[in-house]
Amino acid sequence: MAWYKMEFHYIKQPPKRYTFEMPKLKSLVEHYCIPKVLNLFAGIVRLEVGELRVDIDESTQPDFVSDAFDFVRSWRGAQFNTIILDPPYNLRKAREKYQERYIGSFQKIKEQVQYILNPGGRIITLGYDTVGMSRRRGFEKEAVIIVCHGGDHNDTLCVVERYVSPPLFSSAFNVPFNHTVEPTPSSNRLKP
Ligand SMILES: C[S@@+](CC[C@H](N)C(=O)[O-])C[C@H]1O[C@@H](n2cnc3c(N)ncnc32)[C@H](O)[C@@H]1O
Repeated sequence: MAWYKMEFHYIKQPPKRYTFEMPKLKSLVEHYCIPKVLNLFAGIVRLEVGELRVDIDESTQPDFVSDAFDFVRSWRGAQFNTIILDPPYNLRKAREKYQERYIGSFQKIKEQVQYILNPGGRIITLGYDTVGMSRRRGFEKEAVIIVCHGGDHNDTLCVVERYVSPPLFSSAFNVPFNHTVEPTPSSNRLKP
């Protein structure tokens, strides 16, 4: 069993339709962003970090109107230093359970997304779990944020991970891996 030392934040905010309408969570996520930032499910709230915004819904006025997976798969520009993954949790859960469609797509995004991230970069994932990218894909957890909404609402969970090494397994979706990978700057892993 592995133990990890990481930063932990517990905040209380009433729930909002759009995640970053919660100001404490928004400013914590901004704190962990290393420019240049890709916000893949951008929604309507702009982060003050100089982000590139992608959303499938044109009305959110993103920089790119695109399905997130299509964008990741086809991006040929410079790599990012932070990528934010904030998919629609309820939709994801519903499809996960009943049709396996959306979760399939989210897993595919997770398999592909590190190839457009610089070594040492971060992925910030929001949802109802703290699985994130995980060690299997070469990530170490640096911080977890729990947002308690009170009442009978589920908490929102946010996990911040740093890309420290190439993925342990490749997948059929992967493009060739050709990054120079640097060792984790400060090993934040504790011995069991
Ligand atoms: C939880 S909201 C993100 C909220 C955003 N972080 C904010 O605070 O404004 C999820 C967003 O994902 C977008 N979305 C849903 N499916 C998508 C897909 N396949 N590709 C890209 N964006 C998608 C929705 O249009 C919605 O704006």
